[in-house]
Amino acid sequence: VSLRPYNTFGLDVQARYFARFSSVDELRALLAHPAVQAADKLILGGGSNLLFTQDFKGVVLKNEIRGLEILAEDETTHTALLRAGAGESWHGLVEYSLDQHLSGIENLSLIPGTVGAAPLQNIGAYGAELRDTFERLEAVEISTGNLREFSATECGFGYRESVFKGPLKNQYVVTAVVLRLHREARPNVRYGALEDTLKELGVTGAPTPHDVSRAVVHIRRSKLPDPAQIGNAGSFFKNPELPQGQYEDLKARYPELPGYPVPSGVKVPAAWLIEQAGWKGIRRGEGHTHGVHDKQALVLVHLGGANGGELRALAYDIIASVRDKFGVELQPEVNIL
Ligand code: EPU
Repeated sequence: VSLRPYNTFGLDVQARYFARFSSVDELRALLAHPAVQAADKLILGGGSNLLFTQDFKGVVLKNEIRGLEILAEDETTHTALLRAGAGESWHGLVEYSLDQHLSGIENLSLIPGTVGAAPLQNIGAYGAELRDTFERLEAVEISTGNLREFSATECGFGYRESVFKGPLKNQYVVTAVVLRLHREARPNVRYGALEDTLKELGVTGAPTPHDVSRAVVHIRRSKLPDPAQIGNAGSFFKNPELPQGQYEDLKARYPELPGYPVPSGVKVPAAWLIEQAGWKGIRRGEGHTHGVHDKQALVLVHLGGANGGELRALAYDIIASVRDKFGVELQPEVNIL
């Protein structure tokens, strides 16, 4: 089975076996199958955070569990619990929340991928993260088929991190996510460019969640390539967090270096480092098959005809070049398989 339609880089790799499930029971039945038990397993959502560098010799299980529902209203906190099946599209959930007059995830508009993939890396953008509204999730343990819940604390969320990327990697399949959203609009325009974009869109006064969503969509469309047109997986690297001293030394050498305080020191934009190292907009391969996006240096692009190994080689060359120039070690954010 070709995985080309199932990864946003648009890489044409093969999977030995491929199956879909649309309920917890179907998932359990698959997991109980001896052939599935013996094989390596890859749980696939939207395939928007993956780089395939080779064929997948095991079984790909595609999560198609649907369902969007409001579970409960809390009159005292003016919040509502929204439950979504893991196979729903993330942006579809954002639109549903807006239709239901709920606020809290509008800043996360247009992020590619599924609801079930969102907690794995605690998706974040434009001043918000999944963990800000996360209540709990439901997940099936691969080895036993048992269904259990994880609270926010149990998920161990960090910047683009969770226990499902760390100690519990490949052990659970997320089947549903429950969010706590606000009944009253709570516009979050901490991210500088949002206010400017709202003005540009003619929004005056307090923006509604719809306005914030529109502004985020506007910014994303102007900077990030649409995976339906240009193969990519969003940010390829994480933004590195430097100890205060290392940041200050670098800042002395590069006064323009941006930085945002975080508990461990200072977070610097990888895109800035990559751009300064001369990679922004570069093209590689005969007939320009892949490269670095010309509007956002953190995004690697597959323009057609490249393979995953070539994209990985480009990523490693960028890592080496940023290390040589700045002494900073970039970490891939995308899952390289
Ligand atoms: N910058 C450059 N060159 C560029 C792009 C950016 O120098 O080509 C510098 C600028 O100084 C800019 C700063 O980087 O002010 C930050 O850029 P931007 O706001 O575009 O965000 P980012 O840090 O590059 C992160 C997330 C994105 C998210 C945006 C917006 C990570 C790894 N990436 O990118 O998430 O959309 O912030 O909040 O944290 C993703 O994870 O796939 C993703 C797209």
